[in-house]
Amino acid sequence: MLTRRGFAGMSFAAMAGRMLPEAAYAQRAAIHGTLPPDMAWLNANENPDGPPQSSIEAMIKVLPEGGRYHYQEFGEFYATLARSEDLAPEQILVGAGSSEVLHAAIDAFTSPTRPLITVEPTYEGPVDIAARGLGRTVLRTRLEPPYVPDVKKLVEEAGKSGGGMIYLCNPNNPTSTVAPKKDVAWMIDNLPPNTVVVIDEAYSHFADSPDFESALGYVRQGKNVVVTRTFSKIYGMAGLRAGFACAPPELIAKMAPFRNNVISIVTVRAVVAALAESKTLLPERRTKLIRIRRELCAWLRDRGVPYIEPQANFMMIDVGRDAREFISAMPAKGVAVGRPFPPMNKFLRVSIGTDRDMSKFRDVFWSVYKA
Ligand SMILES: Cc1ncc(COP(=O)(O)O)c(C=O)c1O
Repeated sequence: MLTRRGFAGMSFAAMAGRMLPEAAYAQRAAIHGTLPPDMAWLNANENPDGPPQSSIEAMIKVLPEGGRYHYQEFGEFYATLARSEDLAPEQILVGAGSSEVLHAAIDAFTSPTRPLITVEPTYEGPVDIAARGLGRTVLRTRLEPPYVPDVKKLVEEAGKSGGGMIYLCNPNNPTSTVAPKKDVAWMIDNLPPNTVVVIDEAYSHFADSPDFESALGYVRQGKNVVVTRTFSKIYGMAGLRAGFACAPPELIAKMAPFRNNVISIVTVRAVVAALAESKTLLPERRTKLIRIRRELCAWLRDRGVPYIEPQANFMMIDVGRDAREFISAMPAKGVAVGRPFPPMNKFLRVSIGTDRDMSKFRDVFWSVYKA
């Protein structure tokens, strides 16, 4: 598709789209100014535990062999990754973070006549890629309390447009709420023609609501569904850049030409090592995260501070006034918190860190809240 469109025929917006969204996101998410050395980084939903020890050892081991491409290992790598989700290699597409495969999905499933349809607020990456990068129309329905997406509206918009790409982040960033499984099922059963649903499950490992269900089952059934996953969150590998899309082979084939990167052998080895211990690693990390998240919720409840019941490794706190006041005051006191998420201007997004991070967060948050 890219070759037929040709480089000369690409609009400036389309070319800029290859780099603009990540850059725009990084700029919005960056914390500026002189910062204390022992910052609690609670702004980007990362995992403070980082990669597991087995991944670190695998990376150290492969470093001296970094002079080679190691392409002969990639077939087995895709097979290992696919097996970890009970899929076949032709049902997955690997990217430098899930950002890359989300980008490929937008390239493949939106067009000047097929919009991106999503909720607001949600993760800005796909919206930036589609709207700012490629000049696509973006249709958004507002998330209202209890912050559950109106799937009927999303389907209706796709029908009115003659098709498009529905992007649903589940659990949603920034609200940390889930789309109930019965709503997701209804949406997938009622998709209008020419419509693909992309469900971003970057935070799925942290959800403990019985209402949540991964959409991978729909991929296995061959529905018009793409699920994206990342190693940046529960696996603690944000800086290593690995993610993947899961979809029926015909959808993967449409996305594949839009990939730009081959991930490094260092990252490949880290991922393979982590997958080998995922049966113990993931439950351990999930249990710890849920405990720390519950403790923060209890602390907020005790003080009468409202928040949205969280399902991811971050939560939204209703600070009752413009949250930018907190966002700018807290870093100088050693705590970095999430960027603004309009139109939820009175909500502060905080990532769940270590016990020590959260104790510091509580002290600094309270000093700004009471000021
Ligand atoms: C919902 C969601 N999807 C995708 C990403 C992109 O992550 P990565 O490219 O590191 O996989 C993020 C990053 O924070 C996110 O919040």
